[in-house]
Amino acid sequence: MKYELANKLDEEVESTRSLKVARKAIRAFLDILEMGDEVTTPLFKLAAEKCLKNLRFLGEIHEAENVHKALIKRFPHDPQHRNQLTVAYLIQNKWNQAKRTLEETLIQWPNDGLALVHYGFILKIESKDLINAVEYLQAGIQTGDEGTADGRFYFHLGDALVRLERSSEAEEVHKAGARKGLFLSSYQRAVHYISRLTGRPWWTAEQTTYEDFYRSLEVNWRVIKEEALNALFKSEQSFQNERENLLHKGEWKEFEIFSRGNKIQRNCDRVPRTCDLISSFAPTSECQRGQVKFSVMTPGTHIWPHCGPSNCRLRSHLGLYGLDGAYIRVANETRQWQEGKVLIFDDSFEHEVWHNGSLPRLVLIVDMWHPEVRAHERKTLPEI
Ligand code: OGA
Ligand code: MN
Repeated sequence: MKYELANKLDEEVESTRSLKVARKAIRAFLDILEMGDEVTTPLFKLAAEKCLKNLRFLGEIHEAENVHKALIKRFPHDPQHRNQLTVAYLIQNKWNQAKRTLEETLIQWPNDGLALVHYGFILKIESKDLINAVEYLQAGIQTGDEGTADGRFYFHLGDALVRLERSSEAEEVHKAGARKGLFLSSYQRAVHYISRLTGRPWWTAEQTTYEDFYRSLEVNWRVIKEEALNALFKSEQSFQNERENLLHKGEWKEFEIFSRGNKIQRNCDRVPRTCDLISSFAPTSECQRGQVKFSVMTPGTHIWPHCGPSNCRLRSHLGLYGLDGAYIRVANETRQWQEGKVLIFDDSFEHEVWHNGSLPRLVLIVDMWHPEVRAHERKTLPEI
């Protein structure tokens, strides 16, 4: 019988991890799915499940679409198969197909929690339609359906409300997310986190144990400033617009010299002494969850309140130029930069920046491993 054959291949994959056999198993399970009504319901489900497992093993998400479609065809009255197809599209950044699938789902099941939150998520990120994104995300979360209590939905609902200047509603969402354990706290909303790490918005150099390094930045601040101003004024295109969609108004550019533990050589060539200083400090130069970059913003700039993606790093800013009238709030405390001085904070806490001064404001941003991230974690955590 076909199923027994397919199952044998599946067992062989389990024991040998052979990619070739996995491919054969997938083919065999697809054959079963193609038989449609000739196959009993439990067998059809089992074949689909095992087929998907093997496709995941091979990383073939595209092919998985066909399995989800076969499930939808066989079980047209169960929205979960449509939601799984939606997620497969989203993993592949096929936003339009995801959106279309959801629109069809919502016609049949207007109260399906998963479909509602995913639709809101797409409206927020892809269509930038904040008002409707809020409606759908709220409605979906309110169903309490399985899968809707996910940090990403709370994160984007809160963010959309902040940008609509509905800040007290945003605060409620952030508090609810923290109560449900989706965030570390209502102010600290990293999506990738290690919960045992000490979380505090502002840090002193002593608390980080990296005092010597901060001192070396402060001692060398003039050289760093000269290099950065030269790079900025000689060829302004070396600075690029910030790409994370955090800018509310004004102009904000960055010049990155380390990214996820890798030196960006062509940029380092333009600021060599700064790069040497960084290279000599492993918690920064080998920080796969951080960056080093110069950040410049024009007067009148406002950066929306936001949280960094991970609590595994600390972020420091060395004040360089044009600092008067510029402010940074982290959680509930606002500070100002000073020339040649370092500010240290945990950027997984909500932070916000205004520049009301009259000169371009320039700082050097230096990330480093949170001091409590263990040596083996520093080598093995996936980069961000
Ligand atoms: C940050 C940030 C804004 C700035 O460093 O995480 O948001 O001042 N900075 O460049
Ligand atoms: Mn930030």
